[in-house]
Amino acid sequence: MAALNPVRIQPIEEMRLEMNKVVPALTVTVLVLLAAVGVALFGSGSAQAAVQLSDVHMTVTKSPTCGCCVDYIDILRRRGVNVTVVDVEDISGPKLALGIPTSTWSCHTTEAAGYVIEGHVPLEAIEKLLTEQPDIAGIGLPGMPLGSPGMNGPKSGPFHVLAFNGEQLELFGSY
Ligand code: CU
Ligand code: CU
Repeated sequence: MAALNPVRIQPIEEMRLEMNKVVPALTVTVLVLLAAVGVALFGSGSAQAAVQLSDVHMTVTKSPTCGCCVDYIDILRRRGVNVTVVDVEDISGPKLALGIPTSTWSCHTTEAAGYVIEGHVPLEAIEKLLTEQPDIAGIGLPGMPLGSPGMNGPKSGPFHVLAFNGEQLELFGSY
């Protein structure tokens, strides 16, 4: 008959030594897991990091004789925007082609990151648009209100920037 293996009693000191190895390993595992959870929770937030206009390229389509359009382009460029200017004799052509509702028409039309930005839209609205990337075609500030960027004169109230998608309009923000 085979002799039973004697049960070996593990000395308490030896157990402590083993725990000393196991506990740090567990701690590292927990920290790695926490870091992974942190990335999952907050990593998506980085996509919402505010867009810097100086990183953006825009194309502005305007009439060759429009002065306020040039002033708007100057404001964009002073903010560091890389602007391409396109002069067209008939500004309604590009507006119709881009599907801008006629009720929001202004002088120049800006295109940036797949969006259309019609008129003298405040730059804060453009930053919000490019940061939040809503599912719309674009935004516009109808007419050419005094006091808006590129339009000299006193501002008589908040500028209501509209969001459009096809003929659907809604308020995008007031500035
Ligand atoms: Cu204008
Ligand atoms: Cu203009």
